[in-house]
Amino acid sequence: MMPGPVPSLSRWEESSAGGPAGAASTFLRAPSVARMYDYFLGGKDNYAIDREMADRALDRAPVVARLAQVNRGFLEHAAARLAESGLRQFVDVGCGLPARRNVGDIVRRVEPSCRIAYIDNDPLVLVHARALLAAERGTGAFGGDVRVPAALLGHPGLRRLIDFGRPVALLLLGVLDFVTDAEDPRGIVRTLLGGLPAGSHMVITHTERTPQLESLAETARGAGLAFTPRDRAEIAEICAPLEPAGPYPAALPLADTADLDGPLPLAGFVGRKPG
Ligand SMILES: C[S@@+](CC[C@H](N)C(=O)[O-])C[C@H]1O[C@@H](n2cnc3c(N)ncnc32)[C@H](O)[C@@H]1O
Repeated sequence: MMPGPVPSLSRWEESSAGGPAGAASTFLRAPSVARMYDYFLGGKDNYAIDREMADRALDRAPVVARLAQVNRGFLEHAAARLAESGLRQFVDVGCGLPARRNVGDIVRRVEPSCRIAYIDNDPLVLVHARALLAAERGTGAFGGDVRVPAALLGHPGLRRLIDFGRPVALLLLGVLDFVTDAEDPRGIVRTLLGGLPAGSHMVITHTERTPQLESLAETARGAGLAFTPRDRAEIAEICAPLEPAGPYPAALPLADTADLDGPLPLAGFVGRKPG
């Protein structure tokens, strides 16, 4: 099934009787990946329906909270390394709700002129992202669905903010896990890469399939969340169009973010567009 368009905020508000309060109730009828992830990270932008589902997830697979934290740590690590290596434009796809440290906070510490585009297909994420992440010059938050990659890259606001004639760092952290095989994650990466100029990089994280996470995926699918852990070989195939830029794909946490817990069923990858 083709994913539908991402509702703009005005359509979201129009489509719900009762104004913003009605709109909120429309979106609070089901748990959201972004708000559950916020809960796992210790955030406050989540509701009872999200916490209930997140607690069920923790019952099935207690590792998920740790996965979320290490995933976020890798985002911070990769964004900082790419800024240090000279990348100045960042497109954070499936950016999630604002966290303690966001891509802009990290890369602008290296170079204040960095431009950052935050993209998500969850309208509530966009409300928060526009208010908190994209308030400064050189930043923007846009609706986009990674399952429609050409449309995502063609967003007029994104193209005004980001100069696609210069290298871009495109971040896909914890997002392809919510794209089913039928929606073709490999094709999505190829299409996104094809729209980026030479010198561009992509960062990908993906959860690995374990019996525990497979059981969690089944529960999640029952709640309408297409969580799809994959095995190492499948993740490597998704990343195959990219040239590895460092010791990747790597089991996370990396040595410099590791603690005593050891590797988790989570792979992190940084790659560049082949020249
Ligand atoms: C697990 S969170 C990861 C957030 C952030 N990227 C990070 O790694 O810290 C997944 C995010 O991807 C978003 N997402 C899920 N499916 C998406 C899609 N098809 N297109 C765009 N965003 C999507 C969710 O709304 C959520 O904000």
